[in-house]
This record gives sequence, C-alpha cells and structure tokens, in this order.
Amino acid sequence: MKVSEEVGRQFRELVALRLGLAFPEARQTDVAQGLLRACRSSRLSTPEPYVAWLATLSDQSPEWKRLASHLTVGETYFLRDPALFEALEKQILPSLIAARRAQGMLRLRLWSAGCATGEEAYSLAIIIDRLLPDRSRWALTILATDINLEALHVAQQGIYRQWSFRNTPEDVRTQYFRRRDAETFEVAPGIRQAVVFAPLNLNDGSYPSVVTNTVAMDLIFCRNVLMYFTPQAQRATVARLREALVTGGWLVVSPAEASAELLRPLVPVPCSGAILYHKEHPGSPLAFAAERSPVTSSMARWEAKPALPDISTAAPPVTAQPETASFLERARDLADQGQLDEAHRLCERALERDQLDPEAHLLMASICQERGEVGTAVEALRRAIYLDPGSAPAHFLLGSLLLRRGEQRRGQRAMETAVGLLSSRPRDEVVPGTDGLSAGPLLEMARAYLELGR
Ligand SMILES: C[S@@+](CC[C@H](N)C(=O)[O-])C[C@H]1O[C@@H](n2cnc3c(N)ncnc32)[C@H](O)[C@@H]1O
Repeated sequence: MKVSEEVGRQFRELVALRLGLAFPEARQTDVAQGLLRACRSSRLSTPEPYVAWLATLSDQSPEWKRLASHLTVGETYFLRDPALFEALEKQILPSLIAARRAQGMLRLRLWSAGCATGEEAYSLAIIIDRLLPDRSRWALTILATDINLEALHVAQQGIYRQWSFRNTPEDVRTQYFRRRDAETFEVAPGIRQAVVFAPLNLNDGSYPSVVTNTVAMDLIFCRNVLMYFTPQAQRATVARLREALVTGGWLVVSPAEASAELLRPLVPVPCSGAILYHKEHPGSPLAFAAERSPVTSSMARWEAKPALPDISTAAPPVTAQPETASFLERARDLADQGQLDEAHRLCERALERDQLDPEAHLLMASICQERGEVGTAVEALRRAIYLDPGSAPAHFLLGSLLLRRGEQRRGQRAMETAVGLLSSRPRDEVVPGTDGLSAGPLLEMARAYLELGR
C-alpha cells in the first residue's frame, strides 16, 4: 500500500483540524506509516476510502481516538532528563514542601499530562516518596493522563521492560521495583497506588475543572507532547494548563518545546541545568516582565536572586468579597486555586443555608477529592445524585472515584449513566457545576473511561 501525495496532504489537513496534530517535513514518513497502520486496522485496502470515511465521522467517533494512537509516539522512560529531576528533588519540591509545612497545609498536586505508559508519573511518585517521610499525612495527588488508551492500560499495570530503565540508577530500581521474570519489573504497590491514571485529550475543553480533577496543580509535566501540536493547539493547551496551575505553581515542558513566546506570562526559571516555568502572582514584577519583555530579562532577574523565592501558593486572604458573589462561586474559585480549607468552609456555609442544593454537594465532593478524602467525596456525590438524579457531572465524578477505588462495576455503571445523560445534550452546552466544561468533552472523557475499563 502506498500513500499518494494528494491523499497524504488531505489526511494531514484533516488531522490538524480535528486532532490539533501537526507533522513537519521531518515526520512525513511517520504520518504516512500511521495512516497505513490505521487503514489496515480498519480493514481497508487503500488509504483513499479511509481518508474519505474519516472526513465523514464526527470528532467523537472512536475511530478518531484510535487514529490518534497511530499517529503519536509514546516514547518515554523513567527519570527522563536527569537535570530536571535533580532540580525537582533538590530545589523545587523541597521549597514547595517547606512552604506547605509552614502553612500547615499538607497538600501537593502534580500532573503528568501526556504520560504515555506512565514512567514519568511513577518517577514523580518515587521522588515524592524520597522527599516525604510522612507521606501518609499528606493529601497527595499525582494525576497522569493521556489520549492513548492502550498506553494508559500499560501504565495502570505498572510492568516494565529493561528498556524503560535506561536512565535509572540501580538503587532506585531495586528499591521501587520487583523483578517478575528475566525480562520484566513491576512497580512497588505504594508507588503504583500514588498515581491516578485517567483518559484526557489535551486538545479539548475537558480541563481545567474540579470535576475532572484538573485544577489547583502545583506542578504540571507536559513534556514531548506540545511538539506534535499545531501552533494554534499549542497556544490553547498552554493557556489551559496555565489556568490549571495554582499561583506559585510550575509547568515543565521539554527543552525542544520551551518557547518563551508560547509560554508567556509564565516566568522561565533556570534551575540546576533545567528550565521550569513559574506562575507568578498576576501583578508581580516578574510576571509583568514576562508579559512585556524578552525572556532573557526575566531569566536574568531570577538568576540574580540568591535563592528560590517563597513559592507557597498563598493567595490573597478571603476577606472583603463582592457581595454579589454567592458562597458557591467563591468556594469554587478558592478550590480552583487550591485554597481548600477556605473553600470547604464556604461550601459548608452554603449547605447550612440550603441542604437541598445538589450543586453544593457536588462542589463539596470536588473539594473533598482535592483534599484526598475520597470516601467523603463519594458520600457527598450520593447526596447530590439523590437530590438531582439528572446531574451528569455528579455521576461522572462518582464513576471516576469508584473506578479509582477499584470498584469496577459500580464505577462503570455511574459512567454509563453520565454517558446517557450527556449524549442527549448539545455538544457545546455548558454543564452546570463544572467550571464551564461543555457536554462534548465531558462525554468523550466518560466514554474513554468506559473503554479503558473494558
Ligand atoms: C512522547 S510521549 C511523552 C511521554 C512523557 N511525557 C515523556 O516526555 O517521556 C507523547 C504522549 O503524548 C500523548 N498525546 C498526544 N496527543 C495528545 C492529546 N491530544 N492529548 C493527550 N495526550 C496526547 C501521546 O499519546 C503520547 O503518549
């Protein structure tokens, strides 16, 4: 089978439009091979009818998901980029942890976005394990997401071949992995349980949202993913990831993707040979400089500093709020910024006023999820669903939490209900209680959860 120039061009245009993936000159062979693989798996003998068929399918069709996995490369390994992991372990995370201890807020939220087969997320879990001797006292979230369900499936198993360890010191492998046989190693249960895997397409509007557990992140890894996106998709993705960070949080991309232009107003911070991107308080001089001047000037300012600044996530105190803002809106804003105790208190006040408000119970569940209180979150969701059985986000969140707890059948049932409810909504309709998510992306994610569980 061969791909003609014309069909290749049509295919690339379609893929850029629907998946946000771009293929520069150097990757033309990859895209042609991906097209042929997709063709064969759909049992079509030539690419022309396959491309014509693709054009007729809606973005939600499972074929588009399958195609994405044929076109993206899942290359990854443990502790990829040693300088970066050293910067994290020696400077960024200790500073963040010390700030949180000082605030009495033992909470950390990390996200590996585009995690492929999970090595990056487990590397983060290992570093955290080494830094937090009192880990059981912390509400720790390590979220790992990808569009490729086969890769996520491998990630959930936590079983790896020697090749994944090409950068891993021997002592790390012995401490955190168990040999299964001559070829494979299994990640230690404590590390595996620390990571939550979920399907998520970075090119749609399914984040940030309390319902998809993608808010108030302290650190987001999105490495070797943006390089596959069109410039437009890169900009939209970076904007959403930035929004998903708390003030004081960090975004990590690979050196090849690190364009100050693209990542602005995040501030580039050189650190032990790596560069990380910091989300400043909006009015701070560094954020201001990043917005206006070339990257080198803000880097120079950082380098001039004797030590890392206070990277606590302290937001302005919750005092005089506009009278018009309801308790719930304020609680949601605080939850989005990781101010969980305050958000929890306001949500309780909202519930004191109206015990029968399903949205308040849904928000309470999201806050509890962020605090790592999964059991309480599930109870709050049951109340939300009792009061409003038609609440798609409540069923969705319940499904994701039950699946996370290993309650496969009940989790799947809740997800199926969410799919049923969302399918009847217009794709662009905003779903109440979700920080503005629309029905389409949430439906996609619910379907992907179901497929992942099969
Ligand atoms: C090269 S791997 C990167 C793995 C890891 N982050 C690393 O740097 O080692 C790229 C991953 O991005 C994922 N990806 C591509 N497009 C995506 C999208 N639209 N949403 C989510 N993940 C995507 C691919 O499925 C693949 O697993």
